[in-house]
This record gives sequence, C-alpha cells and structure tokens, in this order.
Amino acid sequence: WVIFTIRYLHCKYYNTASMLFQPQNSIHPALAQKGPRPPYKNHTICSHLEPTPDEALEDRALLDAIAWPKPPAPTSLNQTSDPVHSLFTILPSKGGRERCVGDQLEALVQMQDFQGRPKRYGGDFLVARLHSPELGAGVAGTVADHLNGSYSALFPLLWEGPAQVTITMVHSSEAVAVLQRLREQRSDRFFFQSLFRSGKLSETSVCNMCLPHNRPQEPLCNYTDLHTGEPWYCLKPKRLSCGTRINHFKGGYKKDLVTHKEALLFQRSGAEPSLKNRSIEPGPVKYNPAGYYYKGSWRSFDGTPVRQFDAKLITQCLTSKMINMYGDSTMRQWFEYLTAFVPGEHRHPSLWPFMAVDGKHNILLKYRCHGPPIGFSTVRASELRYVANELDRLPGGPNTVVVLSLWAHFSPFPVEVYIRRMRHIRRALERLLARGPGTLVVIRSANLRALDKEMSLNHSDWFSLQLDRILRNMFMGLAVVFVDAWEMTLAHHSPHNIHPHPDIIKNMISLILTQVCPAKKKS
Ligand SMILES: *[C@@H]1O[C@H](CO)[C@@H](O)[C@H](O)[C@H]1NC(C)=O
Ligand SMILES: *[C@@H]1O[C@H](CO)[C@@H](O)[C@H](O)[C@H]1NC(C)=O
Ligand SMILES: *[C@@H]1O[C@H](CO)[C@@H](O)[C@H](O)[C@H]1NC(C)=O
Ligand SMILES: *[C@@H]1O[C@H](CO)[C@@H](O)[C@H](O)[C@H]1NC(C)=O
Ligand SMILES: *[C@@H]1O[C@H](CO)[C@@H](O)[C@H](O)[C@H]1NC(C)=O
Ligand SMILES: *[C@@H]1O[C@H](CO)[C@@H](O)[C@H](O)[C@H]1NC(C)=O
Repeated sequence: WVIFTIRYLHCKYYNTASMLFQPQNSIHPALAQKGPRPPYKNHTICSHLEPTPDEALEDRALLDAIAWPKPPAPTSLNQTSDPVHSLFTILPSKGGRERCVGDQLEALVQMQDFQGRPKRYGGDFLVARLHSPELGAGVAGTVADHLNGSYSALFPLLWEGPAQVTITMVHSSEAVAVLQRLREQRSDRFFFQSLFRSGKLSETSVCNMCLPHNRPQEPLCNYTDLHTGEPWYCLKPKRLSCGTRINHFKGGYKKDLVTHKEALLFQRSGAEPSLKNRSIEPGPVKYNPAGYYYKGSWRSFDGTPVRQFDAKLITQCLTSKMINMYGDSTMRQWFEYLTAFVPGEHRHPSLWPFMAVDGKHNILLKYRCHGPPIGFSTVRASELRYVANELDRLPGGPNTVVVLSLWAHFSPFPVEVYIRRMRHIRRALERLLARGPGTLVVIRSANLRALDKEMSLNHSDWFSLQLDRILRNMFMGLAVVFVDAWEMTLAHHSPHNIHPHPDIIKNMISLILTQVCPAKKKS
C-alpha cells in the first residue's frame, strides 16, 4: 500500500541533524517507565528451562517493551483494515510558514475498513518513508499508534528539495493477531531434520528446539549444549543411536495452520493510492533516526561522518585485522562482499568456517553460521556451533573485529527463544570485551524483506520487528556498534529483500569500516 504526496522544501540547506537527532543510547522508554511487575515465567516451549529470577524480570521488561495491541473482538473480513479506504494527511507546518531543513514533518493516518468506516482500535503494522528519487535521498519515518485507529508518521526534514511520503500497511491488526497466535502456539510450524548414519544403515529424524508437540512416549536424543544450556532435540532414530547424527537441515513447514478466512488477511491487493487533506494542528514529536541517504550514500547520526572506501582503502583498512563474522545469510552477504577485496586464499565454501586469508596484508576474514535453529540447507552436525561458545574462544584485542547478525531464523519461534540466545551472546561479549579490550563489536539488526502470504506466516517483518526491538534493548549499554539494517532498508528505494540490494550492502560496509578505520584526525 503506497500513498504519497510531493512537498518542496525551500529553505537553505544546513545540517542541524546531528544536533537534533541523538542516537538511541538510553533505555527504551517502555522499559524505563514500568513499575515493579511480577517476573515473567511462562515459557511456552522448553518449559524445563527455568529462568533465574533476574532473567525472568528481564523477560518481563522485554515482553512489555514489545507488547502489541490486539483487536478487541473477532471481526468479519469487511471490518478489517483496508489500505485502499484509509487516508493520510500531511499536517501543516507550525504557523503555516514554509518547511525548512531541520523541521519535522508529521502525517496523520486514519485507518478504515473495507466498507470505509474508520477503525477505532490500533495494532495495524505500518511503515513509513520520506524519500526523493531525484536526490537519491531517503529516511525512515517513525509510526506512533494512537490506539484509536489513527497513527502519526513522523519524519525529519534533512535535505533541501523535493520529498515524498510513502506509508505502507504491512499487516492489518487482525493479521498481526494471527501471527501472534502462530508464534506463541505453533512454534513447530517450522521444523528441522537430521540424517543419522552408521555403516550401511541411515535414518532421517525430526528435530527441533524442544519438540513441544512430541507425544510423551517417543524417545528423544538430547543435544542440549553443555556450555550455554541451549536446548536441541531430535526424535530418536528407530535403529540407530543418538551418537550417529551426521548433519542438520531445514525440514520444512507445517501447512494449513490458518483458516481460509485468516489466510485472506494476508492477501496482497493491487491497492490504489488515495489521499485527502484535512487541517490539523501539529503535535510535539520525538524520534531518533539512525541516519539517512543522500545522493545514494548513508549519513549516520552518531556523529561520525561515514567514510567512502575504494578497493585499495578496504585492503588498507583490513590490514592486520581478524574479522570474525557470525550469523545468518545476511551476515554471509557481508562476508561475500568483503571477500572480493581480499585477494588471497579462499577456503572452499562447503567447509566451515568460510575463510579468506591475505598473507601479504595479514588479513583474516571468517564467517560461521549461528547454531540451531539455523535453517540452511545442510550443516554437518560437528559444525553446528553456538555463537556464544565461538566468542569464548577468541582472545580479542584491538585487531579483532566481531560482527554479528542473528534474527531471520528465529522468527517462527516464541520470543523467549531469541531472548535466551541473545542473553548467552551478551554474556560472551561482556567476557570478550573484558579480556580483550579494544575488540570492536558490530551488531547488525534485522531488515525488511519481500513478503507474500506464505512468507508472512512464517517470517513476516512483524516478527523481525519484534526481535529487532529485543535486540536493541538487550545490547543497549554494551560497547557495541549497531548497524541499523532496518532503517537502512526502509529508507532505501530498492524493493525489500531478505538479502538487501548491493547498494545497501556497500553503505553498510562503509559504515563498519568507518568504525574499524576512523578518519585520521587532522593536526
Ligand atoms: C501461560 O501459558 C499458558 C499455556 O500456554 C496460557 O494459557 C496462559 O495464557 C499464559 N499466561 C500468560 C500470562 O501469558
Ligand atoms: C460484512 O460482513 C458480514 C459478515 O460476513 C456480512 O453479513 C455483511 O453483509 C458484510 N457487509 C458488506 C457490506 O459486505
Ligand atoms: C486518537 O488519538 C489521538 C491521540 O491521542 C487524538 O489526537 C485523536 O483525536 C484521536 N482520534 C479519535 C478519532 O478519537
Ligand atoms: C537434556 O540434557 C540437558 C543437559 O544435560 C538436561 O539439563 C536436560 O534436562 C535434558 N533434557 C531432558 C528432556 O531430559
Ligand atoms: C510457511 O511457509 C510455507 C511455504 O513457504 C507454507 O507452505 C506454509 O503454509 C507456511 N506456514 C503456515 C503456518 O501456513
Ligand atoms: C491540501 O493541501 C495542499 C497543500 O498544502 C493545499 O494547497 C490544498 O488547498 C489542500 N486541499 C484541501 C482540500 O484542503
């Protein structure tokens, strides 16, 4: 769903951005404001894993921070949110004066249902972008839910010239409710398998985090990690022992977990844009974008101008560095991008970790996938490693860079699974930073992806958004560099893709290399 309007900003360009928009470095307001509440102790899967009282308290705070409003009652399809019938208005600037760079723009959205009646409750998942194709400029907007069917989309005005607003409904609140139910109750909708082999005998068996819907009688193989306690189980093969597990791979998806009516909520329509004006006084707004694109290059608000790196500068920057990358295929994408600039030896990609070595410049690039529930095609059982354990093996120090990206494979699971995993990684990072001062840690957030109905049910952006909020909350306060892939994909003009456009990757790499190799101070 796309609705837009064109605005022209006439004032002289002056960059007040870094003054106006501080990076997010404080605790999430939703976390800070809550008074004491009972700890959360309702782990929907892996119920044998009792959180400590401290962990249960953090769980509660994190779950409060991602709480999402639910529709008050079941509705008929024609009472659900319909982007075609919905409207937004650009609020007039204060005092009616022309808009200037440094101002903020507010759009008020009124959601309506398929019969054109205004919605009276919140929970629709909207994303917003202000952009200018002519200038290669774009910035993510922030959407505030007023919980009464109206929403505010807020944008900083950062460049002189044309700009247009795009507001997209990713899912109606009714569709989000279906996703919430699937996540909490059907974490088995995505499953895994392992091949077991001994001599000529081989068997394939189903594996998962805790096999929540396992008939109690079936014997299990317990592959719980002894260091972290991360659970992993397979149904025991009929004729082979648990020690004969060879590999791990994506099993597939359970089908038909939603009703026909629910499925209709995820239908994509060829929505027509619509726009109506109304005059409404602007309200106070507060938002902290991570940065924005201008002439195709990402400009960050953390105070460090992003440097641009050509091949020579990349090699120069990586000289004597050991770059350790861990995570899903969005991390592999960074590895592949950087590998092109490391001319030395490249290890065969079927062996873990992926490696690129440049002996002349003393560069070591490594990439390893994260542990279960990784859904890659096949990973050898002996190569299934938890990131926290890998981090514990690193000495660390000023020449060590650690880069992490874990999110996409966690979206079918209840958020507790992700919280637990991030907690183990956070502890390992704290240990690493303590023993190897000067280690640079970079964390890449989730990004938006292309969604159709099937993809939405398992891997919707709504799941990613929730994991992303957890990630931000959990790593705030740790000395890590955050690459906001969410905003970098939302602000960019290219179609959303699980593996973002090469232009976005280039900007992300520039961002981290700027941290690895800050510009030399001019004397
Ligand atoms: C706890 O879990 C049970 C069983 O899954 C569920 O019925 C109940 O609503 C949950 N309670 C909370 C507070 O989430
Ligand atoms: C809206 O849905 C209800 C329930 O399915 C139905 O009875 C009603 O006729 C529908 N209204 C319109 C205008 O389609
Ligand atoms: C919805 O809530 C917002 C914010 O509180 C308020 O400004 C607006 O008037 C409300 N809209 C309706 C239709 O009640
Ligand atoms: C699996 O093994 C772990 C570690 O030894 C243990 O704590 C856990 O209780 C076991 N799980 C089951 C279901 O027995
Ligand atoms: C998950 O996705 C697969 C295909 O990608 C689809 O067949 C399945 O129906 C989806 N899951 C659910 C719960 O519908
Ligand atoms: C809508 O907004 C534009 C730009 O501010 C203005 O020129 C126009 O008169 C408005 N239309 C209505 C119907 O208020």
